Amino acid sequence: MSPPPEPLLPLGLRLCGRRVVVVGGGPVALRRVGALMAAQASVTVVSPTIVAALEDLAQRHLIDWLARPYEPGDLHHAWLAMACTADAAVNARVLTEAEEARIFCLRVDDASHASAWMPATGRSGRVTVSVHADRDPQIAVALCGAALEAVETALRQHPQRDDRHRAQAASSGRVILVGGGPGDPELLTVKGNRALGEADVVVVDRLAPLTLLDGLREGVEIIDVSKIPHGRFTPQEEINEILVSRARKGRVVVRLKGGDSFVFGRGMEEVLACKEAGVPVEVIPGVTSAIAVPALAGIPLTHRGLSQGFTVVSGHAAPDDPRSTLDWESLARGGTTLVVLMGVENLPLIVGALLEAGRDANTPLACVMDGALPSQQVVLTTLAAVSSSGAPLELRSPAVVVIGAVGAFAEV
Ligand SMILES: C[S@@+](CC[C@H](N)C(=O)[O-])C[C@H]1O[C@@H](n2cnc3c(N)ncnc32)[C@H](O)[C@@H]1O
Repeated sequence: MSPPPEPLLPLGLRLCGRRVVVVGGGPVALRRVGALMAAQASVTVVSPTIVAALEDLAQRHLIDWLARPYEPGDLHHAWLAMACTADAAVNARVLTEAEEARIFCLRVDDASHASAWMPATGRSGRVTVSVHADRDPQIAVALCGAALEAVETALRQHPQRDDRHRAQAASSGRVILVGGGPGDPELLTVKGNRALGEADVVVVDRLAPLTLLDGLREGVEIIDVSKIPHGRFTPQEEINEILVSRARKGRVVVRLKGGDSFVFGRGMEEVLACKEAGVPVEVIPGVTSAIAVPALAGIPLTHRGLSQGFTVVSGHAAPDDPRSTLDWESLARGGTTLVVLMGVENLPLIVGALLEAGRDANTPLACVMDGALPSQQVVLTTLAAVSSSGAPLELRSPAVVVIGAVGAFAEV
């Protein structure tokens, strides 16, 4: 009968600025270096060759790289060592030096002899879950995933448990601008989702992923400030006032918008209003419809040999409208993919301006309506066709219009 495994002491190491030596430069070392960099350790990798991602980190001076085989003495001044080579003999020598110098050491090939053991780890905000499952890494990973889900559920229901700092911040009130992505709730960022879990108030737009509202905690105040084209709208000043006044009452206010708040989202106006009122404000970027909606229709905005860039413009003011500040001639000749948001009404005028400035009449023009939603629809046409027959019949708001050779990739 084998003896019971030696018990472990679970520990949190503060490695910020402390030297950690990783011997080995393959994918396993890369994985460990990622975790060490998150802990802000001062990492030295010892290996004659390293994978490209590690080489890049070394070139950017984010880690040190000793480009040679391990030599005794390499662990000098280290707080922690990691033996990550594919050579058991080298790993054993690293462990021996570490033992002699009383430096804790992990060993990838034979953890049973190492003085330290890496747990399965997951993070949610400021909470870290680490699982040692009697040295069985697969069980540890599975349990860690389950534990993390439980933590996230608990934090959504009781966000004040996340940590005392957050609770304090919440008591003084603040605003978080969350870019919600183009409409599919799964395209919200993890950070944005976490912010929604903390919210006391959610101030929402019509193009935000509305299905997320259903998952909010009971009691969260929802304020709809949608601006419908030619329809109901809440003036921006009133929205600013809602954000500031709720935050001043000590509430965590999430401003949930479609796409990214800083892409035609008037996000900066809200940030400035909060700053002027002395209300703490944070911006969580979102997946903008300008890029994601074409991608969901199969259209890359750049593609080698076809397009070396893209330009995103608003089409809400027609080219001949005195409010328009865009130089349509340059846009026509620029050679980049043109992405038009809010261009439904003015599409024929926009196409006319591009043709007049010399853009090829056969240039593909793709319209993607309701991108990322079950009702998503894609139409592919050309500048010439819009010029002769008008905008496609299916065109309706919201739509992203892509003009350029890459439009031909549209999956209709
Ligand atoms: C006021 S702008 C806001 C853009 C947003 N901040 C972003 O980054 O995606 C609204 C325009 O974005 C585009 N848009 C947003 N969501 C869309 C979607 N799901 N499908 C198609 N177009 C969308 C449309 O052109 C719409 O008129």
